[in-house]
Amino acid sequence: MSKIAVVGTGYVGAVVAACLASIGHDVVGVESNPSRLESLRSGVVPFHEPGLPELLSSQMEKGSLEFTDSYQDAMDGTAVTFLCVGTPSLPDGSPDTNQIENAARSISEWVANPMVVVTKSTVPIGSGRWLNELIDGDRVSIASNPEFLREGSALKDFLHPDRIVLGSDDAAAIATLVEVYRPIIEQSFTGGRPDHRPGLVRTNLETAEIVKYAANAFLAMKISFINEVAMLADAVGADVTEVATAIGMDQRIGSSFLAAGVGWGGSCFGKDLAALQATARSHGLESLITGAVVAVNERQIDFFVGKLSDQLDLAGATIALLGLAFKPGTDDLRDAPSLKVARRLIDFGATVTAYDPIVTSVPELANLAIAPSWTDAVSGADATVVVTEWDEFLSMNLTTLADKMAGDLFVDARNAFNVAAVTDAGLSYIGIGRASAHTPQD
Ligand code: UGA
Repeated sequence: MSKIAVVGTGYVGAVVAACLASIGHDVVGVESNPSRLESLRSGVVPFHEPGLPELLSSQMEKGSLEFTDSYQDAMDGTAVTFLCVGTPSLPDGSPDTNQIENAARSISEWVANPMVVVTKSTVPIGSGRWLNELIDGDRVSIASNPEFLREGSALKDFLHPDRIVLGSDDAAAIATLVEVYRPIIEQSFTGGRPDHRPGLVRTNLETAEIVKYAANAFLAMKISFINEVAMLADAVGADVTEVATAIGMDQRIGSSFLAAGVGWGGSCFGKDLAALQATARSHGLESLITGAVVAVNERQIDFFVGKLSDQLDLAGATIALLGLAFKPGTDDLRDAPSLKVARRLIDFGATVTAYDPIVTSVPELANLAIAPSWTDAVSGADATVVVTEWDEFLSMNLTTLADKMAGDLFVDARNAFNVAAVTDAGLSYIGIGRASAHTPQD
């Protein structure tokens, strides 16, 4: 099929490049960071994403995917360029658009034939309009096609999406992108599921751009909402997991993203909510709901540490922290609740030893000890706190765990464990919004 360039081969770009190659396109990834370029060229993915190293290597071997630092080579014969560079937050919460601007200037310099330039990674609302002015308007059309990739399941999210959003003022650009995505739209690629075709939304630039922020803000809002209900459930003696199941059965609400826990983290929600608030401010508006979503998420850490200190004198306590990554399936520590909890516990005078199946060091937390296994982490601990619900933890032998611990407090910060299984092992269970602590005698 057509030649496609993907500019920026970080998390989003590497997934997009490998997946587009796998559905039959000829893809070139443009990477200016020499060590990342070297790594990808040798088939090594410099972050953890299940299935990506295998897909990337197989597409490179097939000759449908290559990486370069030369815009000149990448633009030659290319009909579509996906912009996948980062937009980190500036101190006021607004996104830093430097990398997009640099990429746009390089594309302008080397664009050789009519091309659609597509913003794929999350960009500030209004970027499409601004790019239209920055890039040669005669040969280039701008489109917005936001990504909805979750770390840990990014390949599945790309190849089997719920929807594809294509925004542009140029109908021909949207038609070109429909052709790029046709194997996914029709689920006609090997492994596609023709009975589960994604929705296709064709719209204008600004609408597509705001869809991304609105989607992430809504997901974060669901989590903060259920976390607030969890606090109430604890106070009145209810079980939030059952509340979530019951309200989730209402199709108007839906059951996903209603798992109460220690709060949301990761590189996206916090950044995107801050950007949405900054955009609102720049239009003289106040985003009240997103402000509350963030405030509830911050309070959740206090609520959680408070629950723990109700049960245990934290000064001098020995605590095993299971899970560091902000969620299972990734090695990402950005805005990870685990680190906020660890910091708080250490500040209260606790000795904290962590274990994570993938993350093996946390340079920014010098006082956090890292154990080589969960059994080492829990040995002699007064309390075990599970912050990330990795499969390895869900399958732990709880009797072994209880035997190794000095105390009996088991804190399930993700409501991922069966309460009876924990108490049957002789442990006292504390969840989030699962009424009060359950002791073995319960
Ligand atoms: C999120 C969105 O889900 C993606 O659709 C989006 O493309 C991505 O951001 C992005 O903007 O690039 P991600 O940050 O990878 O994806 O992770 P999520 O699966 O959304 O989880 C975010 C946080 O919410 C995690 O800390 C997770 O533990 C927490 N969470 C999630 C809950 O506390 N409860 C839930 O019910 C679900």
